[in-house]
Amino acid sequence: MKIFFNTQNNLYCTKTEAKNPTFGIRIPELESAVDTFVSRTSSTKKEELKLIEMIKSFAEKIFQPKNFIGSGSQNEVYDMGKYVFRIPKSSESLKSETKKSINYSEKIIKNANPLNIDSYCGESLLQIGNVKILKNIGKHIPCGVPYALCSKMTNDEIYAYYFKVYFSKIAKLPQSSFDKFAEDVEKIKYPYTIDFQNPNNTVITKDKKIILTDDLLQYNKYCGANSTAKLLRIFMLDASLNVYTPVFHEHLNEARALFKKIILAGEKAGLTLSDGNEDKILISDALYKCQTKVKGEDFLMKISEINKSEKSKKIKMQKIKSYIDEIFK
Ligand SMILES: Nc1ncnc2c1ncn2[C@@H]1O[C@H](COP(=O)(O)OP(=O)(O)O)[C@@H](O)[C@H]1O
Ligand SMILES: [Mg+2]
Repeated sequence: MKIFFNTQNNLYCTKTEAKNPTFGIRIPELESAVDTFVSRTSSTKKEELKLIEMIKSFAEKIFQPKNFIGSGSQNEVYDMGKYVFRIPKSSESLKSETKKSINYSEKIIKNANPLNIDSYCGESLLQIGNVKILKNIGKHIPCGVPYALCSKMTNDEIYAYYFKVYFSKIAKLPQSSFDKFAEDVEKIKYPYTIDFQNPNNTVITKDKKIILTDDLLQYNKYCGANSTAKLLRIFMLDASLNVYTPVFHEHLNEARALFKKIILAGEKAGLTLSDGNEDKILISDALYKCQTKVKGEDFLMKISEINKSEKSKKIKMQKIKSYIDEIFK
């Protein structure tokens, strides 16, 4: 089986690929022009137009395959050193169509209301028409299998990639990585929810941080609020957009340890465990894939019981830990 790895972007890869890494282009004058713009509180029309012209003149250099980092269902993201450029997907990626999908305005929108949440990096610093400039997260791997690779893969290849490249990394992350992420997700409140539909929206950085990219979703009654159940979905239930993970046979111990880390992180952060029926299904699914006979409803009831009966957070956490160990015996 051939797994395609893109060594020319900043996804961090397996040992063999790391020998010869290549990175996206750097255009120092554009980078410093963006720096200046981002740090400013106001700018004149003339200055705005100057930056827009500069971006237009470098567009061909930026939007080319060697700088491509990744894409979801909507956008393509290109490496430009300290920043990334996110543009709507064109029908024919990376060809002349890319240019056609770009629509530059004459105005630069600065991110007026940054959320200032460490684990959230989906906000554009600057937006010009439909071109968004964001902070570059740096080397990372997306959760699940990169969407751009999936169309070329069979389900078996997707699973092989999932376990080899992604799952081995996530399973080794320390509890503290999940704790920080859950704490930050808890801060993203109504009217926003995280976009948990595509696991690639969440990425793991080289320094073991979990970062959320992409736009936030507007809360709606179908998806419900942020919850630990949705973190289970991102980290272990979806192999890619619309591809579910299999039951964890070979990777059972890692999967159970991962399940435990996610639940403990959510409980520590005070994140809702389950918000609605969809979430209940996610919890049941995770328990089933981790091969326990405990049903989602019973699990939820037990955790809620522990939370109600104990005042001390420390004892609560110990009890939850022991309960999870017990169901995985
Ligand atoms: N700020 C960023 N820095 C570095 N890489 C990013 C950044 N934002 C997104 N990416 C990469 O691009 C991929 C797709 O980005 P995303 O914004 O989710 O696209 P879409 O809007 O189509 O879902 C991500 O999985 C990630 O690998
Ligand atoms: Mg996305």
